[in-house]
Amino acid sequence: MASIAVCPGSFDPVTYGHLDIIKRGAKVFDQIYVVVLNNSSKNPLFTAEERIHLIKEVTKHIPNVIVDEFAGLLVEYAKSVKANAIIRGLRAVSDFEYEMQITSMNRVLNEEIETFFIMTNNQYSFLSSSIVKEVAKYNGKISELVPPYVEKALHAKFYKHE
Ligand code: PNS
Repeated sequence: MASIAVCPGSFDPVTYGHLDIIKRGAKVFDQIYVVVLNNSSKNPLFTAEERIHLIKEVTKHIPNVIVDEFAGLLVEYAKSVKANAIIRGLRAVSDFEYEMQITSMNRVLNEEIETFFIMTNNQYSFLSSSIVKEVAKYNGKISELVPPYVEKALHAKFYKHE
């Protein structure tokens, strides 16, 4: 039986930190669905379509990755693609409480779906989409934080009138 996992997130936008988790997850599972979901506590900069486009572009060399979006509960999406695993990246202790909360909630919603954590590469332990947006907004250097394609998209978002 093929092992299928879902790698969910806001991906606003996808960073090298996300990419590291996706690549490592893709080595372990037969198929990974990277899915853009709505986080009700966040107000995204990029539309879902834009976020999907960026993820597709930077993961196109990984054959067992499928990029998708879903407006609903993560466990419902996982069920719809026959995934029984969720992959999340864990950066620092500060991520733990939040991750424990959503993992526990997801388990209450569907106990058949197991969440697996991948420790982020130390190089990216400080990295988040929010930090990238903050630096990009003030025209700071982000070339070590996001792939060039995403860097261009951020630049276009913030400086489209120049
Ligand atoms: O990248 P993020 O913002 O930390 O990802 C959080 C996300 C999108 C995975 C989470 O908010 C989510 O799963 N949203 C969909 C709704 C849902 O299923 N919530 C989980 C129960 S609390």
